[in-house]
Amino acid sequence: MSRSFSSSAVANSIRAKVMLYSQYGQPDQVLRCVSHELPSSPKGKEVLLQTIACPINPSDINQIQGVYPSRPELKVQYGQSEPVAVGGNEGLFKVLAVGDQVSGLKEGDWVIPSNVNFGTWRSHVLSEESALMKMEKTISANQAATIAVNPSSAYQMLTLFEELKPGDWFIQNGGNSQVGRSAIQIGKKLGLNSISIVRNRDNLKELVDELTALGATKVITEEENASKEFGKTIAEWTNGKPIKLALNCVGGDNCTNMVRKLGQDGTLVTYGGMSMKPVTIPTTLFIFKNITAKGFWVSANIKRIPGSRENTIKAVQKMMEDGDLVDVKMYENPVSADASEEEVYQAFQKALANSNKGKQLVVFS
Ligand SMILES: NC(=O)c1ccc[n+]([C@@H]2O[C@H](COP(=O)([O-])OP(=O)(O)OC[C@H]3O[C@@H](n4cnc5c(N)ncnc54)[C@H](OP(=O)(O)O)[C@@H]3O)[C@@H](O)[C@H]2O)c1
Repeated sequence: MSRSFSSSAVANSIRAKVMLYSQYGQPDQVLRCVSHELPSSPKGKEVLLQTIACPINPSDINQIQGVYPSRPELKVQYGQSEPVAVGGNEGLFKVLAVGDQVSGLKEGDWVIPSNVNFGTWRSHVLSEESALMKMEKTISANQAATIAVNPSSAYQMLTLFEELKPGDWFIQNGGNSQVGRSAIQIGKKLGLNSISIVRNRDNLKELVDELTALGATKVITEEENASKEFGKTIAEWTNGKPIKLALNCVGGDNCTNMVRKLGQDGTLVTYGGMSMKPVTIPTTLFIFKNITAKGFWVSANIKRIPGSRENTIKAVQKMMEDGDLVDVKMYENPVSADASEEEVYQAFQKALANSNKGKQLVVFS
């Protein structure tokens, strides 16, 4: 027997809206919203879900542009005549109803996808129970909707590459990104000192104050990072202690100048390329400082380190529950789960258009 469902259900079916694409390109040109019917009574191991919130992450955009190595397969589905895929990899869903063979979930539970390429940009979805991870409601919906990618990446990068001990220093660029804000807070919880590089702006002081309140030890601009003179100030801050780890999501000169701050045997971890410029490391740093340069991809770690997704989420969730990792600034784009295709489309397009102005979420009610 399948159990009951919410007010979104109409008779025996629900009209689900999905943001999909049939060819790669800019999201404002290739994405469209279509609706399709879902049975309101799932069968067997199926779970009927309504989306609570889903973020716009840079990798979601890269996927739609066709430049991201992991992509959902384009398939003929949702009543479309050509192969399509649904955008989005991360999100929080609430269970509306479960099939009679579902054992670990019930109506009202929160879940997130247990893998990438789920296609989260939609109002409702019918999923197998095995593709879902239950989330306890001990953290905010926005935190749960964004826990699997950015805070998890920050946690893994701070714990997998160097054995950092309380009092150690790390440096990062993109300090005000969602990953950066998470790294600041997780670093503080681990007793680490951080230097966060941000781009200069009119309201720099406001941003510095905000990141400092999150636990940043020091926040510097790209210009300060580039200045040889400023290197001395950093050496004074660290009291000569070597900076062991550098986290790079920008590339270009920003990264080169950041690597110069690493101490002997330090590690550069590259996880993003927001400037679209390559990572260049001076030969002398490799030879005389024995710098190690590695890449990081949280999605690859799901397979590479079995259990890493679940264990990381658990650790990060505990920090959120304890108040060590607070809700970082996010911008909500609200829309009703029962809204028209056009309204859902507009909510996503607005979020996409503002995605360079801070972390955007589409929030369904
Ligand atoms: N490899 C992985 O497993 C993994 C996991 C998670 C995230 N990521 C990557 O991490 C990066 C950050 O993701 P997010 O979701 O945290 O981002 P976000 O919150 O959207 O923030 C984007 C950041 O990039 C900065 N930025 C953009 N263009 C820049 C440029 N040309 N030069 C310098 N800085 C620039 C922004 O600075 P302003 O505020 O100055 O614009 C902001 O700090 C992305 O590249 C993402 O793909 C990778």
